[in-house]
Amino acid sequence: MRTYVFANQKGGVGKSTVAVHKAIYHESLGQRVLFIDFDGQGNSTTTLRARARISANAIDLFGSDPLPSLESAPGITLLQGTKELNEIERLPNNVILNPKEAIAKYVDRFDVCIIDTPPTMGLRLLAALTMSDFAITPFELAGYSIQGIAQIIETIKGVQGNLNPDLVFLGMLPNKVNSRSGSHREAMAQLLSHYKQYIIRARIVNRVAIQDATDQGLAVWELKSSSAREAAAEMKQALESIDKLVAERAAA
Ligand SMILES: Nc1ncnc2c1ncn2[C@@H]1O[C@H](COP(=O)(O)OP(=O)(O)O)[C@@H](O)[C@H]1O
Ligand SMILES: [Mg+2]
Repeated sequence: MRTYVFANQKGGVGKSTVAVHKAIYHESLGQRVLFIDFDGQGNSTTTLRARARISANAIDLFGSDPLPSLESAPGITLLQGTKELNEIERLPNNVILNPKEAIAKYVDRFDVCIIDTPPTMGLRLLAALTMSDFAITPFELAGYSIQGIAQIIETIKGVQGNLNPDLVFLGMLPNKVNSRSGSHREAMAQLLSHYKQYIIRARIVNRVAIQDATDQGLAVWELKSSSAREAAAEMKQALESIDKLVAERAAA
């Protein structure tokens, strides 16, 4: 099982959107997908609910009771995000290690695990980074703040130095891009000058079809409208870029 976490303490950047698309992509390949929603808002849960097997709540991974047993069959098994998850942030720091332990027995029973995280810097984000093989940071060029990006990179480095030395940071994925916007182009140029090595060579453009699709519990390539075609191609390209980076790591 390969575990991917979508992490950025900023909200609205596309963590849930890209995580859900990655899950549906693996589902469409007939793989066994474990999806963990650590966000109390449960946006990914809402999108995936109708197509997934719901076996437990993500909060169960933090408790001391054993997890209800998860069936490992092709398709998406969802550990739901519920609002009680927000209370995890008030627990002692050592709960960070619990989810990794809780899913340890499933590493041979799923092909891929995808973790969606809340838009907050805290124990759930650290727990998710600690249990993952690969981290991806979707980001948005609008309202771009170098401060926020510096913070997530620092956090990932901190986890690599301490809690999870095997964590690979695949990089930052530009989302909601508008190439006609001068401020987007400027922000991208500035980001490239600071963080070139971290920027994934793919762009997900801001397109209504993406929002429409996830609102309907679908991936954008499952929408029938012709306006979804470009969005679908861009989303698939972004997911392929992620796969390619993973393959390069495996070969190295
Ligand atoms: N490329 C895109 N084009 C248009 N809308 C998008 C795009 N990416 C995300 N969205 C929309 O933006 C909102 C925030 O995205 P979301 O994935 O929920 O962000 P996060 O999980 O980081 O908070 C959602 O309504 C989503 O449908
Ligand atoms: Mg989200």
